[in-house]
Amino acid sequence: MKVRTHRCGELTNAAVGQTVVLNGWVQKRRDHGMVMFIDLRDRTGITQVVFNAERNAAVHQASHALRSECVVSVTGQVMARPEESKNPNLPTGEIEVFVDAVEVLNESKTPPFVIEDEAEVTESIRLKYRYLDLRRPRMQHLLSLRHNIMQAVRGFLNAENFLEVETPILTKSTPEGARDYLVPSRVNPGQFYALPQSPQLFKQVLMVSGVDRYYQIARCFRDEDLRNDRQPEFTQIDAEMSFVDREHVMSVMEQMIVTVFRDAGGVQLPTPFPRMTYAEAVGRYGSDKPDLRFDMPLHDVTAFAAASEFKVFKEAATKGGIVKALIVKGGAVTPRSRIDALGEMAKSFGAKGLAWLKITPEGQLESVIAKFLDAKAFAATLPEAKPGDLVLFGADKAAIVHDVLGRIRLLLGEELKLIDTTAWKPVWVIEFPLLDYSPEEKRYIFMHNPFAAPMDEDVVFLDSEPLKVRAKAYDMVLNGSEIGGGSIRNHRSDIQLHILDLLGINKEQAQAKFGFLLDALDYGAPPHGGIAFGLDRLIMLLGDTESIRDVIAFPKTQRAQCPLTDAPSAVSADQLKELRIKLDVIE
Ligand code: AMO
Ligand code: AMP
Repeated sequence: MKVRTHRCGELTNAAVGQTVVLNGWVQKRRDHGMVMFIDLRDRTGITQVVFNAERNAAVHQASHALRSECVVSVTGQVMARPEESKNPNLPTGEIEVFVDAVEVLNESKTPPFVIEDEAEVTESIRLKYRYLDLRRPRMQHLLSLRHNIMQAVRGFLNAENFLEVETPILTKSTPEGARDYLVPSRVNPGQFYALPQSPQLFKQVLMVSGVDRYYQIARCFRDEDLRNDRQPEFTQIDAEMSFVDREHVMSVMEQMIVTVFRDAGGVQLPTPFPRMTYAEAVGRYGSDKPDLRFDMPLHDVTAFAAASEFKVFKEAATKGGIVKALIVKGGAVTPRSRIDALGEMAKSFGAKGLAWLKITPEGQLESVIAKFLDAKAFAATLPEAKPGDLVLFGADKAAIVHDVLGRIRLLLGEELKLIDTTAWKPVWVIEFPLLDYSPEEKRYIFMHNPFAAPMDEDVVFLDSEPLKVRAKAYDMVLNGSEIGGGSIRNHRSDIQLHILDLLGINKEQAQAKFGFLLDALDYGAPPHGGIAFGLDRLIMLLGDTESIRDVIAFPKTQRAQCPLTDAPSAVSADQLKELRIKLDVIE
């Protein structure tokens, strides 16, 4: 094989006259009779190579055998293209290479789809032939974006004296709220390792070890329902710091994200990132990850609703629920069918309905529920609602109203093109509740993870009003996506045990689950805290893609399968025997 002198995306006018060797894949062939044009491709781009019968008849003849995606080495001379065939859209568009020798390095079967960004192909075919899919320029771009982001992260954290430490993959359960992936142990029959849901416990132990500042670009495993921004196996930029409070962690990590976006993505994020309490985020936007690229806030109209004659409103407002409203500016023109469809959507999100009213140009209320409402009182309650607007209402328990209207808000933001898609809107969400109450399980559950410390001023409520206790936790949200979250931890075992107790985990259970951490805390654990960012989500944002599967070289489908390797799959009877496992799959 003739070794290449250049890559396929490199040659410009400066090389005209030179003899070069290019190695690459045949992207496209155009037969013009006496002349054959081929686009030759590698990771760096495309060069047009020309097989001219007058220049070299044998080589021209050979070019007819070159099929799509076969691998070739060509030797030839760089020529300036005639003016009319220059391609300003291609970095190599000023030149072409006239071929004097060609060697086929390998043939290719006809690929199931063309290797172009616009190729029409289903995702399952893309994933089955991932090696072909990854040849496409868009996917190559996302792979290098991922690489550049990781390099920028490492560069920043190294300069800030963080130490990169690897933590085990075969380990014990880490309580992050998802199901564990389990791995049987052959040498300890009947016992299982859990794959880490995060390096949480180990990074805290490393703080006790005096590592002071730790990071890891860490693989995490969570067996949970998959979505477009969730994979069973994903990557965190995981960090932990000693002798810090919330402000330290948030400040260093904000700088890291700003640096990474600038250096790897050419994006200048607006600083300092604004902050919003959890209560404000949920109350105003119906979500703890508010998309601030458009406003459309939720308005509290509970008092008005309580005084109204509409039964649904009155009951919700007087029986411990709330009523909130969303104003759709200029929405009075919305046809009834569309409003009904939004109502169905609200029901699918868990609401009982989605009451609405239109404000006519004369300022009258127009709705099936208008007769139950006092127009004057309404105008006084919601002066932001103007003639020509549509107002949508949710009436229920607070959690349902916020969740449903928050989702309707996002839906309308997209549909009505209210979202400024060129904007970058980061926000820190802080003061999360430490606990939540699960009515199904009839017990308190943690909001972030069980290791978050309560806010000092709220510690007094731990026993009397646990739901009132806020945590020293923080999430970084960007354009409505939760890109990272962390907290200051409980570095004293007594407080940690107290919180575990509230979560219904007694001392013995705690000892069995993560006794090693509790023990470590008793040997001089420094105050510490940290955060983890979803690397894949950062790449989705900078790479402008909707699917997390586009930013992972070999992702899993929604059913947690890998179409390339066919994992997961059955194992042989011998393997099971070695593990001393007998299968009895419960239907
Ligand atoms: P948390 O569980 O919030 O925190 O995870 C941190 C970040 O990881 C990303 N993420 C995911 N990305 C893709 N697929 C998933 N299934 C997935 N799950 C989470 C999110 C999220 O913000 N140990 C704590 C961190 C800490 O307290 O330091 C933790 O894991 O972007
Ligand atoms: P109904 O009286 O059930 O016919 O409902 C009248 C209107 O109120 C309809 O538009 C319903 O979608 C709406 N509605 C019913 N229940 C609720 C609720 N809990 N929250 C908001 N709107 C509701």
